[in-house]
Amino acid sequence: QRHLISAADLTRDDAVLILDTAEEMARVADRPIKKLPTLRGRTVVNLFFEDSTRTRISFEAAEKRLSADVINFTAKGSSVSKGESLKDTAQTLEAMGVDAVVIRHGASGAPYRLATSGWIDAAVINAGDGTHQHPTQALLDAFTMRRRLVGRDAGLGQDLDGKRITIVGDILHGRVARSNVDLLHTLGAQVTLVAPPTLLPVGVETWPCEVSYDLDSTLPKSDAVMMLRVQRERMNAAFFPTEREYSRRYGLDGDRMARMPEHAIVMHPGPMVRGMEITAEVADSDRCTAIEQVANGVSIRMAVLYLLLGGNEPAVTHSRTEEK
Ligand code: CP
Repeated sequence: QRHLISAADLTRDDAVLILDTAEEMARVADRPIKKLPTLRGRTVVNLFFEDSTRTRISFEAAEKRLSADVINFTAKGSSVSKGESLKDTAQTLEAMGVDAVVIRHGASGAPYRLATSGWIDAAVINAGDGTHQHPTQALLDAFTMRRRLVGRDAGLGQDLDGKRITIVGDILHGRVARSNVDLLHTLGAQVTLVAPPTLLPVGVETWPCEVSYDLDSTLPKSDAVMMLRVQRERMNAAFFPTEREYSRRYGLDGDRMARMPEHAIVMHPGPMVRGMEITAEVADSDRCTAIEQVANGVSIRMAVLYLLLGGNEPAVTHSRTEEK
């Protein structure tokens, strides 16, 4: 049984296969009928123990576009609130015959536990676990960078060799930062983290990236700048940085964006806190790919589901007119 638990588990070939398959899937979105029969008869459960807008909805859209049967589970309103464990919840769903479990959980390691415990036979896809990993986010970010920085028409198999990516903000609590560092390193990009020392994890010096405390000097050397939200829900209130101080040193506004090279893009995984890490002027500018990232998330999640569950059938068959 294959799973997707961590971006660090992906080889370069794995990652490029997912990105190339997502390009094929994106072409389905351009069709009048945006649906493939690939996962007909397969059941996928979306098991969300933490809140989500983008990930939950885009997994559901991806599953439906591949014709899977979809079961949505959120901890709120379920028997989890009565104390039911992850094991019992998972086995209850398994008894209903699921082929894949997409799980978001507040505890780092919960998807790994589900995949390796023997509690269930289904494929497990990590949709974000604690401060650990969010592999499909890293994949959709890489897909967005590849399209914007390498070029959609450059052909399949292109990667991010030598691209300079700056990730700014709450690295300590950010599973997005960790997943992106792992995947971007695998794809040959050079990553720089910019954050206040209090929002960097212990051991960050062993990560395959540079660390800086100076955003202004890093921006002119960046091909993409990824802004991250300060995750207050994972922090003791006593350690909140003040909004004013944080945005003065680490927020991206129009003046700072002007320091970036002309071709460089601004990324944000969402949800954004406008006025804190990013101003409305930047968030709404043509250089910000936040909405594009959401759309690309559907293609990436279709690709991951297809590669884990779809067997050897070709993902997409194109008509001769489409191939021209
Ligand atoms: N980027 C992301 O994971 O957003 P959601 O929390 O809304 O899913």
